[in-house]
Amino acid sequence: MTTTPLPLPRRRFGETSRRDFWWLQPAAVFLGFSCYIAYATWGAFQGEHYRFGPYLSPFYSPELFGSPESFFGPKPSWWPTLIPFSAAFLILWIPGGFRFTCYYYRGAYYKAFAADPPACAVGEPRTKYKGEHAFPLILQNVHRYFLYLSLAIIVFLALDVWQALWFTDPATGVKSLGLGVGTLVLALNVVLLSSYTLGCHSLRHLVGGRVDRLSGMPVRLVAYQCVSCLNRRHMRWAWLSLFWVGFSDLYVRLCSMGIWSDWRIF
Ligand code: FES
Repeated sequence: MTTTPLPLPRRRFGETSRRDFWWLQPAAVFLGFSCYIAYATWGAFQGEHYRFGPYLSPFYSPELFGSPESFFGPKPSWWPTLIPFSAAFLILWIPGGFRFTCYYYRGAYYKAFAADPPACAVGEPRTKYKGEHAFPLILQNVHRYFLYLSLAIIVFLALDVWQALWFTDPATGVKSLGLGVGTLVLALNVVLLSSYTLGCHSLRHLVGGRVDRLSGMPVRLVAYQCVSCLNRRHMRWAWLSLFWVGFSDLYVRLCSMGIWSDWRIF
């Protein structure tokens, strides 16, 4: 049988036959990411107002150095004097790197920020395609290592929620169990971040991707089904957790600055 190759004319950048609002999604992603990156960078550089009562902003958790409550004490002496110090600088690169290398986010920001391609069936700017097998995109493969670190961060954030249940009486200094709106904000943050992290494609591969027959491994099978269940809504968890982690920082910050009041439920 003979086949005749169809001539596929190369589209010019932005050229398309699509008549729908294909540009809307990349534009929304561009706007959403830009706002978030601007806020997170600003929040990280502040270096203050990240604690309020028993609450700790997730941008600064775990707090390794910076305040008397941190793991290793105040600002370290080895920190270069020319670089401003913020406890967030020691931590924020982990969730930042995890999201930057996430399979979902890559697809979204390649379209929104590099127009590569702008959308399906829309002409793109470059003429050659190397995938992610060459420098610099090959570095995206560090994603699984960011996953390991991010799983550890989730544990610390869960411990923060536990800490956020213990309020100190300013008169006696005695701690007692309580629940504030801030506790709920931080708890929801852990739920959303866990749903995003545990639905990671790399984790799914790690849990069951290399096994030929999962049915003979009941524990692994359940784990694989749980990760797959979260993975099906990975984009949704990615955006919800992104928004809420930013809001959690804002909540603690505004309470600490005296602009918002934290409401104690009991
Ligand atoms: S693929 Fe999105 S977090 Fe791993």
